[in-house]
Amino acid sequence: MTAQARWHVTERSVGLSSHERLLRDVQEGLTQDPPWLPARWFYDEKGSLLFDDITTLPEYYPTRRETEILTAHADDIARLSDAGALVELGSGTSTKTRLLLDALTARRPDLLFVPIDVSVEVLSDAAARTAETYPSITVEAVVADFEDPLGPLPGVAGGRLVAFLGGTIGNLNVAGRGAFLDRLRAAMDVGDHFLLGADLVKDVDRLVAAYDDSAGVTAAFNRNVIDVLRASLHADGLVADDFEHVARWNAPEGRIEMWLRARRPIRARFPELDLDWSLPAGGELLTEISMKFEVDVLRAELAAHGFQAVETWTDAAGDFSLTLSRVA
Ligand code: AVJ
Repeated sequence: MTAQARWHVTERSVGLSSHERLLRDVQEGLTQDPPWLPARWFYDEKGSLLFDDITTLPEYYPTRRETEILTAHADDIARLSDAGALVELGSGTSTKTRLLLDALTARRPDLLFVPIDVSVEVLSDAAARTAETYPSITVEAVVADFEDPLGPLPGVAGGRLVAFLGGTIGNLNVAGRGAFLDRLRAAMDVGDHFLLGADLVKDVDRLVAAYDDSAGVTAAFNRNVIDVLRASLHADGLVADDFEHVARWNAPEGRIEMWLRARRPIRARFPELDLDWSLPAGGELLTEISMKFEVDVLRAELAAHGFQAVETWTDAAGDFSLTLSRVA
């Protein structure tokens, strides 16, 4: 007989609802010059599936590289952090999470696993499945948005490992990263550890190809945000096929940008906001930034927000990085 691990989902309803956030982002972002939207709105059900497809594309190296690093160093991460609790920001069902859970539970069978995500459905599913696979652990899932204050986190102070994988930190600009790191630091205690996945600067052609694949999956992922807007906000005049996918390297900012360029004049209406929005043919909407980092600069930025770098690992090709830091 196998002991059944316990799992539990807590909803922290601070801040705005998802619908209120979307309304705010449309009102604020689309009315700026150039118009923009935060990357979070890609991930409805279809967008999440398209992203899963992206992670297996030949051009999209980050997922494979990060898995390579974790495969090689999950034991080092477990040893150096000596964590009794793993807090994961973002999805908790991936191969990458299992690599960490395997290494951590080898030392601490009674590990506390705290997946944090915006979707209660994703979390309940992940919590139940993880509890089944790892009968000795306890799963305390938390429904929360990265924009909200995170704390206080479950787990013993000084014994937590917070993981933020995939390079999602790259979706934030420097101000957004600073605010995120400050919120995270406020939710953590001295001695806790933070494991951060970050994509690195490299050859521009490879970077652009990773965001403009030959099969057109990233293009479909980008255009899907138009369907999300239309469906969620009952918007008129928005058709995904009216937009062309554009991926380009912004050298001064050190980031890949994804844009949607209007193939014809766009005239949209958002009834709930009483907002008319238009874009001329050839006009562009910024849908995602994906920062590419230099290891030293990233470690200095972490230090400036109270996270002392312990170790940085990269894959053999030097494409992607994982930095373990400690709250000082
Ligand atoms: C999930 C934010 C890490 O920026 O590489 C992939 C999202 N966008 N292809 C990234 C994404 C286009 C991805 N992150």
